[in-house]
Amino acid sequence: MISIEVHVLYDIIRLEEKLLLNELNKRGLSAKPIRAEAISINSTINAFGLIRVAGRDKVLPLSFTYQELGLGSINSFDSLYITHDKFLTLVKLIKAGVPVPKSILLLDNEEEVLSKLGVPLVIKPTDGSWGRLVALANTIREAGLIIRSYSDNVLLGQEYVRKPKRDIRVTVVGDRAVAAIYRYSDDWRTNTARGGSAAPVKIDPELEDISVKASRATGSVYSGVDVVESDRGYLILEVNGVPEFKNVQRVTGINVAGEIAEEVARLIIS
Ligand SMILES: Nc1ncnc2c1ncn2[C@@H]1O[C@H](COP(=O)(O)OP(=O)(O)O)[C@@H](O)[C@H]1O
Ligand SMILES: [Mg+2]
Repeated sequence: MISIEVHVLYDIIRLEEKLLLNELNKRGLSAKPIRAEAISINSTINAFGLIRVAGRDKVLPLSFTYQELGLGSINSFDSLYITHDKFLTLVKLIKAGVPVPKSILLLDNEEEVLSKLGVPLVIKPTDGSWGRLVALANTIREAGLIIRSYSDNVLLGQEYVRKPKRDIRVTVVGDRAVAAIYRYSDDWRTNTARGGSAAPVKIDPELEDISVKASRATGSVYSGVDVVESDRGYLILEVNGVPEFKNVQRVTGINVAGEIAEEVARLIIS
């Protein structure tokens, strides 16, 4: 029997990709690391593409190519298109009844519309990651200065959620929240990429429910859902369609790569 090929597409091979390759191969798939340096479109590709590169500009064309010329893309092109845009993600979450912070997409540089959000407020690009360019404005005037200094980005204004000095990263696989961690930080931006510590979260039914709804609303097979605790309960900030999970795996001891590989194998083999 020839086993089905999965191309694990990477730009830097990190622990996550090594773990995924190993777990996929254990499940009878033929998983190969493929460094995504160029996309050749001369012929069809007899493989699924597991998209593990960073950045929308690489993620979308790779995913589209594997979906159209290959056997399929994981996550799908449509879901990656949505998760790489924080505003589109929020629209999908609202449609699915998932609680999110009040948000406004800035189509023009006019800061006055932001007064509906109160102060302080958060300004962030719709396509950012690792907390880059996520800024806090204490006044509408300050928000205006930030908006004008970010002239190259499509921006989102968002209510500032008064959360504890932590947020929650939930890894969702299929229709289960498989593992979650608190990310602690002295910075109000709690991305682990910015430093800070982590601890395991006991996933309660509400957290499970909204995280799974959020992941499914974006069409993701697996994802990393960012959740903050507010005085009106959990709110979801974003869904990451190419999530890092090594910290989640290390801190919780849960075999997240194994869970992802299991779901991928189930989808591909069925
Ligand atoms: N509206 C907000 N209120 C409070 N904290 C926020 C808000 N938006 C972002 N943050 C903080 O900043 C971090 C990064 O923001 P996020 O929207 O997840 O963007 P990124 O894609 O850069 O991770 C979050 O993990 C959270 O700690
Ligand atoms: Mg985030």
